Amino acid sequence: MVKLGVNIDHIATVREARGGANPDPVEVAIACINAGCDSIVCHLREDRRHIKDDDVWRIREVVGARLNLEMSIAKDIVDIACKVRPEQATLVPEKRKELTTEGGLDAVKYGGKISEVIKKFNKKKIDTSLFIDPSKAQIDASKKAGASIIELHTGEYADARTEPARLKELDKIKRSVEYANIIGLEVNAGHGLNYANVRDVAAINGINELNIGHSIVARACFVGMRRAVEEMMELIK
Ligand code: PXP
Repeated sequence: MVKLGVNIDHIATVREARGGANPDPVEVAIACINAGCDSIVCHLREDRRHIKDDDVWRIREVVGARLNLEMSIAKDIVDIACKVRPEQATLVPEKRKELTTEGGLDAVKYGGKISEVIKKFNKKKIDTSLFIDPSKAQIDASKKAGASIIELHTGEYADARTEPARLKELDKIKRSVEYANIIGLEVNAGHGLNYANVRDVAAINGINELNIGHSIVARACFVGMRRAVEEMMELIK
């Protein structure tokens, strides 16, 4: 079965709206694990707008689940990851003014820098995933940089306004998964996936894990986090 990684950044976003301690991402991460998800995902942004260093440490130490740390390739963040040692680090592009991660990492342009980070992480036994657009050039560049995992950006698929556009994006993802599997990469996917659009992506042969955040946190307002995660897992199944 395709795995589910739950991104809990927006639990911290709600907490930061009042600058206090609630809701606590650690408690929510425990609820996600109890619901049966496969990993906890969080993004330690350079501006620390939601998840803070202390959250990452506590998730690492208290939750005991597989941690997938999303991060840029900035040196101070890479240094923190080397200390925390998550099971997996997902390298993403980061801009200060964006609302959420816009587009994939450019593995063609930044292959050299990415490769240095992957080497550091290999020494620490951290698996590295590259969050890239579903294109052959990006997949080839990821492989060349030394990644063993990629996460395909599903934002264009999720944002498609017409059925032909949606199918075109879905086909791009399918062909990318197939190609990446052939050259030996493990393939995850995520961004913008929700209860209405997840099935078609989950049905693609060769996808290992889907990473989903915003839609699950939004659904949790109505049914609670545990149920929101269970509902998403049922759809993926
Ligand atoms: N995967 C990556 C690499 C991301 O940057 C994000 C957004 O933080 C997600 C998955 C989850 O996206 P969403 O919140 O739209 O489900």
